Amino acid sequence: MEKRDPAIRVVLQPKDTNKHGTIFGGVILSYIDLAGAVEASKTTSQRIVTAGIKEVDFKAPVLVGEVVSFYTKTTRIGRTSIGVRVDVESTRGHQEVHVTSAELTFVCLDETGRPTPVVKT
Ligand SMILES: CC(C)(COP(=O)(O)OP(=O)(O)OC[C@H]1O[C@@H](n2cnc3c(N)ncnc32)[C@H](O)[C@@H]1OP(=O)(O)O)[C@@H](O)C(=O)NCCC(=O)NCCS
Repeated sequence: MEKRDPAIRVVLQPKDTNKHGTIFGGVILSYIDLAGAVEASKTTSQRIVTAGIKEVDFKAPVLVGEVVSFYTKTTRIGRTSIGVRVDVESTRGHQEVHVTSAELTFVCLDETGRPTPVVKT
């Protein structure tokens, strides 16, 4: 299998859990957003904001202490927007468990906060 480097890798803590002892989906969503922004920043150094995150389905829980990797890929460069895919994998023992995937759109903004064409760096 092709070796990939994640945009970010984190170990989740007891503070990130819900009452069932597994990690809150919102915590994972927050890291997805961060990983997506890291990926979009490879395309441009402009100010970017998250315009949208498409439907996210959680396929497996994440447990405290697992190493969670957020793999990213730029999927589209539009006029003012950048599309990014984020794949989330959690290391459970010697296995990588697929947790979820997400498609995000980031938009470049000018100094007035309006969308502006993507300038590649
Ligand atoms: C995202 C935002 C800049 C879009 O502004 P807008 O005036 O509606 O933008 P436009 O309709 O001109 O679209 C601009 C680009 O964004 C894309 N876009 C806008 N909303 C989108 C959405 N919900 N999902 C995906 N793409 C979106 C458009 O397709 C367009 O892409 P293109 O130029 O590459 O073709 C504006 O709604 C905004 O500032 N939202 C808040 C963003 C933010 O603060 N995020 C963090 C939340 S805490």
